[in-house]
Amino acid sequence: MNAVLEPVVEMLPMSARDIDDILRIEYRVYSHPWSRANFTDSIDSGYSCWVCRVGGELIGYFVLMLAVDEAHLLTIGVIEKRQGLGFGARLLRHAMEVARLGGAATLLLEVRPSNERALALYRHFGFRQIGVRRGYYAASAGREDALVLARALEEIRA
Ligand SMILES: CC(C)(COP(=O)(O)OP(=O)(O)OC[C@H]1O[C@@H](n2cnc3c(N)ncnc32)[C@H](O)[C@@H]1OP(=O)(O)O)[C@@H](O)C(=O)NCCC(=O)NCCS
Repeated sequence: MNAVLEPVVEMLPMSARDIDDILRIEYRVYSHPWSRANFTDSIDSGYSCWVCRVGGELIGYFVLMLAVDEAHLLTIGVIEKRQGLGFGARLLRHAMEVARLGGAATLLLEVRPSNERALALYRHFGFRQIGVRRGYYAASAGREDALVLARALEEIRA
C-alpha cells in the first residue's frame, strides 16, 4: 500500500525575510498591491503579521491590526495556484483566533464589492456588512467603494 504524505501546513509569524515571497504573490493577486514598505512598516509597528507555509513554501499571509476592543484585517492573500482550496479559510480562522486572544470583540475588514471570492469567504465565516466607504479603493477606472464587514469574535466556528 502506498502511503500518501500530506505536506505540512504551518502558520508562522511573518518576518522581514518573508517579504520577497509575499510581494511575488501580492503583485499577482492584487490589482493595487501593497508595497514592500507597507509590509515592513506593519511588522515594525507590531501589527500581527502571519504567513502560511505548505511543505515549506510560503503560500499565503495576512496582516491584522489589533486595537483595544476591535481588530482590523488589513490584507490577506493566497498564491493563485492554491486559491479555492481552503487556505484563505485557514488564514481567516487564524486571524480571528489571534484577534480574539488579543482581546478584540470584533473583527473588521474592507472588501471591494467586485471581489466575489473574498466576499463569499467572509460571508461563509459570518461577516456582515456594516457600512460602505465611498471611493475607498483605487480602481482601473477611477475609484471603487469598499464594503465594511464585521464579525463578532465571542465564538469562532467554521
Ligand atoms: C480572497 C482569498 C484570500 C481567499 O483565499 P482562498 O484560499 O481562495 O479561499 P478559500 O479556498 O478558503 O475559500 C474561498 C472559497 O471557498 C468557499 N469556502 C471557504 N470555506 C468554505 C467552507 N468551509 N464551506 C463552503 N465554502 C467554503 C468560499 O465561499 C469561496 O468559494 P469559491 O472558491 O468557490 O469561490 C484569495 O482568493 C486571494 O488571495 N485573493 C486575492 C487577494 C484578495 O482579494 N484578498 C482579499 C481582499 S479583501
